Amino acid sequence: MRKYIVAGNWKMNTTVPEGVELAKSVVEKSKELPSNVELVVAPPFTHLASVAEVLKGSKVVLSAQNCADHAKGAYTGEISADMLASVGCTYTILGHSERRQYYGETDEKLVEKMKLAFAAGLKVILCVGENLTEREEGRHFDVVKEQIVNVLYQFTAEDMANVVVAYEPVWAIGTGKTATAEQAEEIHACIRTVVCEKFGAEVAEDLTILYGGSCKPSNAVELFAQKDIDGGLIGGAALKADDFIAIALSF
Ligand code: PGA
Repeated sequence: MRKYIVAGNWKMNTTVPEGVELAKSVVEKSKELPSNVELVVAPPFTHLASVAEVLKGSKVVLSAQNCADHAKGAYTGEISADMLASVGCTYTILGHSERRQYYGETDEKLVEKMKLAFAAGLKVILCVGENLTEREEGRHFDVVKEQIVNVLYQFTAEDMANVVVAYEPVWAIGTGKTATAEQAEEIHACIRTVVCEKFGAEVAEDLTILYGGSCKPSNAVELFAQKDIDGGLIGGAALKADDFIAIALSF
């Protein structure tokens, strides 16, 4: 059964006390949600332990925004998948375009990170998406297909039960410029086809594919009404509990 998910990527925002307050508001308002929608929050690493306490007993699930590409050892400043699991994370986001763009995250590195995440018992929200030049040159389908093949094709059908894909066109992230529902749907459908070619129809049907990039209460209804859009990865609008919940109520 395909799961509907709305995930909040807080990025490098909020202090720990602010993050705890935001998490408390999300938990409080999440009581209005139908049970078929999973709410996920992805605060910065420093907030995870405190936010995990707030989420206890609620329906809201914890995610990290990244994990290390090594299991443990002399990697100053890095956070391992095991550490994330031990603090109560269910998910980690991997391959966000900001990590690909500013921190040199390659598909090869993502494969290593994903293996470690699965070994630690984490699920992965894998981000893919083209930049503006790639879209303008009409290469958006090829770019996204290549990201899916390079990373997901290294895994098994069993692993796919622990994968969520987030399609995030880079030109739509934090820009206020959302992909139209049609632009998003055609890429989502393409991702499902590429997954089907390798893993079969059942895995493809069950895969949750989120849209991300300036998703907000005013456009979520139209986006989520598309047959291959199963929720959202929300940046800016996830920093306001009311907006985040309004998006989750848009199914
Ligand atoms: P945005 O970010 O909603 O602020 O555009 C989405 C994301 O980067 O995950």
